Amino acid sequence: MSTDVLTPVLTDIWDAPRSWTLATYREHQGYRALARARTMSQADLVEMVKGSGLRGRGGAGFPTGLKWSFLPAPDGGPRYLVVNADESEPGTCKDVPLMMANPHVLVEGVAITSYAIGCDHAFIYLRGEVVHVYRRLLAAVREAKEAGLLGDLEITVHAGAGAYICGEETALLDSLEGRRGQPRLKPPFPAVAGLYARPTVVNNVESIASVPGIVLGGAEWFAGIGTARSSGHGIFSLSGHVTRPGQYEAPLGITLRELLELAGGVRAGHQLKFWTPGGSSTPLLTAEHLDVPLDYEGVAGAGSMLGTRALQIFDETVSVVRAVSRWIDFYKHESCGKCTPCREGTFWLQQIMHRLEDGKGTPADLQALSDIAGNILGRSFCALGDAAATPVQSGLKYFREEFEAGCHTPARELFPPAASTLHAQEVTA
Ligand SMILES: Cc1cc2nc3c(=O)[nH]c(=O)nc-3n(C[C@H](O)[C@H](O)[C@H](O)COP(=O)(O)O)c2cc1C
Ligand code: SF4
Repeated sequence: MSTDVLTPVLTDIWDAPRSWTLATYREHQGYRALARARTMSQADLVEMVKGSGLRGRGGAGFPTGLKWSFLPAPDGGPRYLVVNADESEPGTCKDVPLMMANPHVLVEGVAITSYAIGCDHAFIYLRGEVVHVYRRLLAAVREAKEAGLLGDLEITVHAGAGAYICGEETALLDSLEGRRGQPRLKPPFPAVAGLYARPTVVNNVESIASVPGIVLGGAEWFAGIGTARSSGHGIFSLSGHVTRPGQYEAPLGITLRELLELAGGVRAGHQLKFWTPGGSSTPLLTAEHLDVPLDYEGVAGAGSMLGTRALQIFDETVSVVRAVSRWIDFYKHESCGKCTPCREGTFWLQQIMHRLEDGKGTPADLQALSDIAGNILGRSFCALGDAAATPVQSGLKYFREEFEAGCHTPARELFPPAASTLHAQEVTA
């Protein structure tokens, strides 16, 4: 397949020398969208983003312009924009490279969005472990401020302490306010009572970084990319057993078969066994789903979710039981403990998955696994619980025989880890 199918907009200048600097960004039309936006009315900007069909790139796909329009009419008090840069989902790796390679496209998006919603203090809540990205964002905000591009807008870059739950938008707001990050009961939604109980828009990094392109290219241009209900370009992150892993920016609706062709296919001599369309919280799919359009509707039709377009590729050497077991370790560790189904359920799932991985499971364990996952899904306070249930359920759906084998044979004997590792020196046992 030719690379013509790619639509590099957000990733356009990643290969340019010192792509992260204001000088390079301005050589590539940087901050022209902000100047244009300031000639428009706030209402027209919101309408433009609505008309583009941009849907939130943080996973759920909620229409961005519609979210902005939910803010109540100004009452003279503050209103906030909070950019969700917590990116912690296993497999998800698009926002961090975007902020490293071109932080100014995010800063410009923040400035335009702040203007559109009438906000004069915006926040970028960043996952705490990525100190290098924190420094880069601070430098970009400082550069833009010193160049007089931000006017009176204040942008605070906040480094979290590294908790997956702080990516959930209301837990993020609690954390930003200095409290322990746990989800809030909704309603009220952040648009009505968000940060410091004031009207707040929470959007993903990629959503906000897409705004300058929409202002420059126009709503129709953006809506013309992708599919009818999933418009625009998106970053698809290919990782795992693929010849050329990396970020591929393409129209929504592209298929994994097409992306794999661009990425040189599954690693030489191997076949695709299973994959995630949008990180570990999206039900896994198999080789029979290679031609599913990677848009919100197409992936939902195949029984999964587009999520964050984190395409983790696993070949035939990988034990599904072992992979699901690692994900459950993660969700159990990250469960915030606020609600019983997730707090207790992830603990029980972990016990059973470890037994199956060691070949010490029982037939009753398989039934319990299915029951517990079924009792977490849809009954948890936030979507982290659902995220823990989905790999178990989809693993059982497509690879039940591997879970049954966990009643007598350790996964490491059926699928020796050395065969699936990409870095031989890292194999432990
Ligand atoms: C456990 C959990 C973790 C999440 N992590 C992130 C994250 O790291 N980044 C993100 O943008 N959205 C994350 N979300 C989704 C946010 O709650 C929210 O939907 C999103 O920030 C809205 O932005 P968007 O409309 O631009 O997609 C997470 C949700 C849950 C339940
Ligand atoms: S689902 Fe899990 S992470 Fe979410 S509130 Fe309940 S315990 Fe916390």
